Amino acid sequence: MASEGLAGVLTAVLAGQGLCVQSCDSAPAGEPPAPVRLRKNVCYVVLAVFLSEQDEVLLVQEAKRECRGSWYLPAGRMEPGESIVEALQREVKEEAGLHCEPETLLSVEERGPSWVRFVFLARPTGGILKTSKEADAESLQAAWHPRTSLPTPLRAHDILHLVELAAEYRQQAKHPLILPQELPCDLVCQRLVATFTSAQTVWVLVGTVGMPHLPVTACGLAPTEQRGGMKMAVLRLLQECLTLHHLVVEIKGLLGLQHLGRDHTDGICLNMLVTVAFRSPGIQDEPPKVRGENFTWWKVTEEGLQSQLIQRLQRSSVVPVNR
Ligand SMILES: *[C@@H]1O[C@H](CO)[C@@H](O)[C@H](O)[C@H]1NC(C)=O
Repeated sequence: MASEGLAGVLTAVLAGQGLCVQSCDSAPAGEPPAPVRLRKNVCYVVLAVFLSEQDEVLLVQEAKRECRGSWYLPAGRMEPGESIVEALQREVKEEAGLHCEPETLLSVEERGPSWVRFVFLARPTGGILKTSKEADAESLQAAWHPRTSLPTPLRAHDILHLVELAAEYRQQAKHPLILPQELPCDLVCQRLVATFTSAQTVWVLVGTVGMPHLPVTACGLAPTEQRGGMKMAVLRLLQECLTLHHLVVEIKGLLGLQHLGRDHTDGICLNMLVTVAFRSPGIQDEPPKVRGENFTWWKVTEEGLQSQLIQRLQRSSVVPVNR
C-alpha cells in the first residue's frame, strides 16, 4: 500500500489543509447527486464573533421588520460567486461598518446538507463602527457590549453558546486555527479520517478504488438526507464496509473545510474526524473486519503522525459540528 502517500495526505488534513475531491466512495441511492447551487438547493450562512481585549462582544441591531431593534451577531447568507471569507467580510462591513479578518472557524452548524452555518472568531482590521445615523436595510447600528451583560432583546439565544465558545477558545484554544481552503467541489461532501484505536495503535479507514485515499461520502439533498443530517452520509459510507451494529461510531468534528464559490462550484467538503469502536468492552487488538474490497484499514506506523492523531482524538481537538 502507498503508505507514504497516505501519511502525507493525513498530515495535510490534520493541518487543516485541503485536498482535491476526485470522486466519492459513497453516494445516496438512486440518481447521482446533482451539483449544489447557492440560492437554488443550498443555503450557507456566515456568522462572526468578535471579542475585544476588554471582553466585549460586537453586536448589530437588526433592521428587518420581523426582528427590528433586536440584537444579534453579524451574520448573513452567502451570495453566489463569493468565498466563505469574502461573504463574512461583506456581511460584517454591511452590518457593522468594520473590515475584518477571520481568525478561525469556531463551529459549523447544519440542518441537513442544504443549510449550513459557518461560525468564525474574527478580528476587526479597520473601518468605522456603524452608528444609528447610518441605519439602513442591513442593520440599525453596531455596538460593543460586555460579554457578561448582553443587551435585550436578542434576536435569538443561539448566539449565547457561540459567544461562550469564542471566550473559551480565547482562553484556551482547543483546536488549531482552521480557515476555509479554496478548492473546488461540486457537492456537499465529507472526507473521513475514520479511526480505530487499540492501546497505542491507530488505524485509519482507507478507500482502495484508484489510489489509496481517505474516503469521501457525498451528502444527498433529498428530504430523507435532510432529516438525517450530515451524519447520515458518514454512517452510510461506514455501513457499506463495516457491520455497524457491533460498533459505536462517534463523529468528533471538523479538521478542515474546503470551498471555492467561484466558477459555479458551490460545493463544500468537510474533513471530519470520526472514531469507530467496538460496542462490547474488552481488549480489541484489531479493527473491525471490512466487507468487500473497496476499503481497508491502514495502520498508522509513522510515530509523529500517530501521536498527533491520538492527541487530536483524546482532546477532541476539532471544530464542533452541530445539528
Ligand atoms: C467497489 O467499487 C466499484 C467501483 O467503484 C463498484 O463498481 C463496486 O460496486 C464496489 N463494490 C462494493 C461492494 O460496493
